[in-house]
Order: sequence, then C-alpha cells, then structure tokens
Amino acid sequence: MLDIVDLSVRLGRTPILHGLTLQAHAGQVLVICGANGAGKSTLLKAVLGEAAYHGTIRLNGQDLATARPDQLAARRAVLPQDIEVAFAFTLGDIVAMGREAGDLWSDPGIDALALAAVGLQGRDREDFRTLSGGERQRGHLARALAQVWSPVGPDGPRWLMLDEPVASLDLGHQLMIMRLARQFADAGGGVVAIMHDLNLSAMVADRMGFLIDGRLQALGPPAQAMRPEVLERAYGCHIALNAAPKAGPWLLPQSCRPFGR
Ligand SMILES: Nc1ncnc2c1ncn2[C@@H]1O[C@H](COP(=O)(O)OP(=O)(O)OP(=O)(O)O)[C@@H](O)[C@H]1O
Ligand SMILES: [Mg+2]
Repeated sequence: MLDIVDLSVRLGRTPILHGLTLQAHAGQVLVICGANGAGKSTLLKAVLGEAAYHGTIRLNGQDLATARPDQLAARRAVLPQDIEVAFAFTLGDIVAMGREAGDLWSDPGIDALALAAVGLQGRDREDFRTLSGGERQRGHLARALAQVWSPVGPDGPRWLMLDEPVASLDLGHQLMIMRLARQFADAGGGVVAIMHDLNLSAMVADRMGFLIDGRLQALGPPAQAMRPEVLERAYGCHIALNAAPKAGPWLLPQSCRPFGR
C-alpha cells in the first residue's frame, strides 16, 4: 500500500499541499485529477523524495524517509511530467536505464518486452531525440515499465506512478497505455496516475480524487467522485455530466479492451 498521512509541502514561501491524506492499494488504479498548479506533480515529487515534506509517506509498509534508494527503485517506477534527454542516447539506452535501476537488471530481454508494450518494438537503435513527442513519452513509459516489469516482487507489490502519461498521445495510444495500467494493477501491482482527461480517467480508475486547495477531495469510484459540484470546485467552470454536446462531433471511447475482444 502507498500510505500518505497528513502530507504538507511548501515550495519557496508557498504552501502547496496542506495535510493531504491518501491510501493507494495494490491491484488498483488510482487517478488524481485537478487544475493546473493544484499540486499534483508536487505530490508525486514528494513521493519521489524530490520535494521536502512534513507528514508520513509509507510504501509497502516502509517509511520513505528511511528507505534506501535501491529498495525504492526496485519497488516503484515514476514517469515524471517533464523529462529532457540532452545527450545522444538511443531509445534502447533509455529503456535499459530503467531496467538497470530496478532489481531486474540482469534480464535484458525485458527491454524488448517493454518497448513492445508501448508499441515501439524494433525502434531501440533510434536516437531518442529524433523520436516524435508521443513516441518519446511512450519511450519514457517503457523505461518505467522495464524498471518494475513484474507487478509483484519479492517484497510485495510494485508501483507505477505516472504524471500525465497520455498527455502527448493519440487516441489509440492513449487507450493502449490505459490498458497497460489496468493490466499492471490486475496482475497485483499498484498504479497512481495523474490525468487531465476525465473520460479516460473514469474508464480506467478504480478510484479517483481531485486535488483542490492542497487536499485530495471526493476520493472514490469515478461515479461518486465525478459530481458536478466537485468538478466545479476543481476546475472553476460548470461541467455537465452525461449530457450530449449541443454542436459538433462528440466521441467517447467505450472501453480500454483491445480490438476484437
Ligand atoms: N520551486 C517552486 N517555488 C515556488 N512555487 C513552486 C515551485 N515549484 C512549483 N511551484 C508552484 O507549485 C504549484 C503546484 O505545481 P505542480 O507542478 O504540482 O502543479 P500541477 O497540479 O502538477 O499542475 P499541471 O496540471 O499544470 O501539471 C504551482 O502553482 C507552481 O507554480
Ligand atoms: Mg503537473
């Protein structure tokens, strides 16, 4: 379990998170939504140890403040929101870096599996900087997957923590990545994903919550969390639920299962 109790983070002089409490469970996909600047990435940075915090964060029962970096790397992989690759690494190098950070480093066969999982099979020799934006995002996701390839490890569930994993992806690849998240959780791992697309979130999440005023609010199954009053508080605009738009084409993906199933 990821157990966050009374988490507060201040960046510079600004309080960003105020006593946030949250439990995420293995076997589930938890989606965190909220407005730009609400503090979603800051929450992930605190879990990563990149932002100083007050409060307690435990992963699989171990306090992050006392966990060794190699223990943490074997238990959780993170897809940050912004990642710059400044040097001439190949896509294969990037994925191998993820695998070597985890405890599955001795099995290079995982790299090809991770690349295939994100639809980049056979692309491992390409210079990472020449890939398209969406391909780079999927490449970074393959890196995270290679780090925690088996959803359950010797000391408990492994975790994927994804900050806007589909932000640059086309619809087909958005569904592919949501499917991966679902499969990882169904196989016993834990997934925490930060998302802006509420329809996709509702499709994949076991539970979702909204970061509003530095706290996680309305945490629950999507049908309970996505209430108009919650969405208005989160985004400051009126949002009609389940209402057809008045004009223009409108589509809603119906499932994250592969074609033909
Ligand atoms: N080093 C810093 N000093 C002061 N404020 C900061 C610092 N870093 C981030 N912030 C502020 O913290 C707030 C939360 O940022 P964060 O990146 O967590 O937002 P977010 O919810 O992930 O937003 P988005 O949806 O745009 O990614 C923002 O208002 C940001 O300006
Ligand atoms: Mg963010």
